[in-house]
Amino acid sequence: MVVASACDPRPPQPSFEPMSDVKTLMAAVIEPAAEVYWDAVGSWDDSTGTHVMVPTTDSAWSAVQAAAITVGESGNLLLIPPRAVDQGTWAQLARGMTTASREALAAAIARDTSRVFSAGAALYDACTACHAKYATEILRPNAK
Ligand code: HEC
Repeated sequence: MVVASACDPRPPQPSFEPMSDVKTLMAAVIEPAAEVYWDAVGSWDDSTGTHVMVPTTDSAWSAVQAAAITVGESGNLLLIPPRAVDQGTWAQLARGMTTASREALAAAIARDTSRVFSAGAALYDACTACHAKYATEILRPNAK
């Protein structure tokens, strides 16, 4: 715990009231938002040809942006006790998710669908990088 001294120029730190542990934050906030992002852009083939799915309305694009912000800010929530596992690799991997989300947001603001696709892949890598170290039982971030 950091105790502010009389000559500390920083304002006192606000106290936090976390409502969820890591597991619940993953299931209730991070995973659903990441799915919105990953589902935003895609293509598939069937007997009638190749179909492409992209957001087409302002509100659809807003939802993609909001999803990126939700995941990115959740990276900050992972740095707050009691969720912060350590201030080393854990903090680095949590920040990695926020960095990936920042690019994901920029891609959505630019409405650049191929950039959204690559940003989504990079975000997925940020999830699995942390699971590989701290949650090895989770092979895929969207596995239940
Ligand atoms: C900084 C580390 C870290 C990052 C980054 C991270 N996770 Fe997790 N995740 C964990 C840990 C640790 C658990 C296991 C929690 C437990 O079971 O107590 C977990 C569990 C989960 C679970 C299982 C939840 C449950 O109900 O059992 C899902 C789903 C999940 N993460 C999705 C994601 C997605 C999607 C991303 C990326 C967008 C992501 N995670 C990024 C650390 C991380």
